[in-house]
Amino acid sequence: MSTAVKLAVIYYSSTGFSAEIAKEIAEAGTKAGAEVRLLKTAELAPEAAIASNEAWAAHAAASAGIPVATPDDVEWADAVIFGTPTRFGNVSSQLKQFLDTLGGLWARGALADKVYSGFVTTATTHGGQESTLLALYNSIHHFGGLVVAPGYTDAVKFVDGNPYGTSHVDAQGNNPIGDQTRDAARHQAERVVKIASALKAGLGA
Ligand SMILES: Cc1cc2nc3c(=O)[nH]c(=O)nc-3n(C[C@H](O)[C@H](O)[C@H](O)COP(=O)(O)O)c2cc1C
Repeated sequence: MSTAVKLAVIYYSSTGFSAEIAKEIAEAGTKAGAEVRLLKTAELAPEAAIASNEAWAAHAAASAGIPVATPDDVEWADAVIFGTPTRFGNVSSQLKQFLDTLGGLWARGALADKVYSGFVTTATTHGGQESTLLALYNSIHHFGGLVVAPGYTDAVKFVDGNPYGTSHVDAQGNNPIGDQTRDAARHQAERVVKIASALKAGLGA
């Protein structure tokens, strides 16, 4: 049996900011020794809504090749990092709908004893980053999962300043993902892989 941590990075993104963080996390997870699946959640919005927003339509086309997450991916994983843009301070319906498909796994205890973490993007500073991550983490407690938040466990966390998870302010689409967010994303991936690896070894002993 492989001892490498299996990491699923599962995100929703309409205009690409969360997707960019997901990619950074997936790459850092691979570098940290994990077997990684980078997955998006299914789109729920009508075609007309997507087509009416240039950035949304462009990202939908650009991300067509990313596989859509299924509950099997969560069952497979030792660790899951979820990502979402905020929606009025809450998790996007597209990611929430995916969480709601996990009832079968939950019922047989298959979501428990895994490591979970989250990241978020907003348009504005203080636009609901912490409330969104805390809302996401509500579900993890119900899973019986272990929330591995970054806290202030590395110097980079004193720069981005969000102990709940990597977060980015896109400034209404005008602020690309930069070093501050990428540093936080890499640290979060490395920390999740480290803790999941220790947990996997401990549970397997
Ligand atoms: C319906 C809706 C609600 C939103 N609510 C907020 C909000 O409460 N605060 C905020 O800062 N941004 C809000 N946003 C903006 C997005 O969360 C933000 O632009 C995000 O970075 C987009 O990420 P994405 O490119 O991964 O889709 C909202 C956007 C939509 C469409």
